[in-house]
Amino acid sequence: MTERVHRVAVIPGDGIGKEVVPAARSVIDTVGRRLDFSCEWTDFDWSCELHASTGSMTGSGSIEELATHDAIFLGAIGYPGVADHVSLWGLLIPIRRRFAQYVNLRPVRLLPGVRTPLADRGPDDINFVIVRENNEGEYSEIGGRLYAGTPEELAVQQSVFTRVGVDRVLRYAFDLARTRPARHLTSATKSNGIIHTMPFWDERFQAMAAEYPDVRTDQYHIDILSAHLVQHPDWFDVIVASNLFGDILSDLGPAIAGSIGLAPGANLNPDRAQPSMFEPVHGSAPDIAGRGVANPIAQILTGAMMLEHLEETTAAEALVLAVERVLAVGEVQTGDLGGTATTAEMTAAVIAALD
Ligand code: NAD
Ligand code: IPM
Ligand code: MN
Repeated sequence: MTERVHRVAVIPGDGIGKEVVPAARSVIDTVGRRLDFSCEWTDFDWSCELHASTGSMTGSGSIEELATHDAIFLGAIGYPGVADHVSLWGLLIPIRRRFAQYVNLRPVRLLPGVRTPLADRGPDDINFVIVRENNEGEYSEIGGRLYAGTPEELAVQQSVFTRVGVDRVLRYAFDLARTRPARHLTSATKSNGIIHTMPFWDERFQAMAAEYPDVRTDQYHIDILSAHLVQHPDWFDVIVASNLFGDILSDLGPAIAGSIGLAPGANLNPDRAQPSMFEPVHGSAPDIAGRGVANPIAQILTGAMMLEHLEETTAAEALVLAVERVLAVGEVQTGDLGGTATTAEMTAAVIAALD
């Protein structure tokens, strides 16, 4: 039998990225051996540490090197010592843009065995997907400062919403909603306070909705949407949001689903013309980094999303099932879940549950 090989660029990055990425890799390698495929991993040490010694997040390298890979597997970027806007705009955000990864897909599910902070809620109540616009919107480097250091100092930051950019992420969200039983899409807006871009977003949402009569739609301003997510998580199926709103909702979602340490994500180039990047929702967690106690499940489930993208569907399902088994039994729990297990113990438990 010929083995399928996937060329994957790996960027563990900073903090717990360096701990959870090797953990997830070992799970993926194990499942690959059983299902006749392998990942040919190419390591990139791009990180804040490299920035400290070279002055660049990629050292002498360039993100162009990622172009020839089938996928990018990333941990987290950012660490005290390098300003966040320097590290993130030196690596993560340029990758998302260079490879037109215009959808940031962040599923949120309360898994059996995991405690939610919401009273009287169970797995049936919390199961939605956030589709976050990932290339434009509020994240833009257009702007600047004037009169630096004086009392008249000012900073201006320009949001950018293009018809192409808005329509393509809305279309992805409508198409996704169509594949799910509830066929329901909620749009996050703020057209009461943001006078130009958000009414434009709403207009495009309505225009697109006319093409999808089979998808039920709702729209809420982001403030009350955040409240509804806590009080009525069962109202949500697919949520589409601009870059910043999607960022905030995708930390709130995992918080109600038990832990950010469980939350996977994918930066997708849906056209598949360029590599997509698979990265959990959480960051480098400097407060727990270096102690071997981070929860590797977010990174492992991110690996499952990558395997699905690489059309290793059976392997992806096996990873999800193994994680579900471990959580349902509840004997092995990392600190974020209320237990004392280490990253290594949780990884071993998932591998043991892989049959
Ligand atoms: P964070 O997600 O790193 O941490 C927030 C809290 O969640 C911390 O208490 C942390 O210990 C906990 N946590 C996160 N992941 C966990 C895991 N797997 N297991 C157990 N606990 C976990 O967010 P932050 O503190 O705002 O950011 C830290 C750094 O990471 C910053 O430099 C930030 O810019 C960066 N960041 C990077 C990414 C990314 O690369 N995708 C995402 C978010 C934040
Ligand atoms: C995320 C992170 C990043 C973002 C930061 C680190 C720039 O919070 O992936 O959610 O806002 O996109
Ligand atoms: Mn975020």
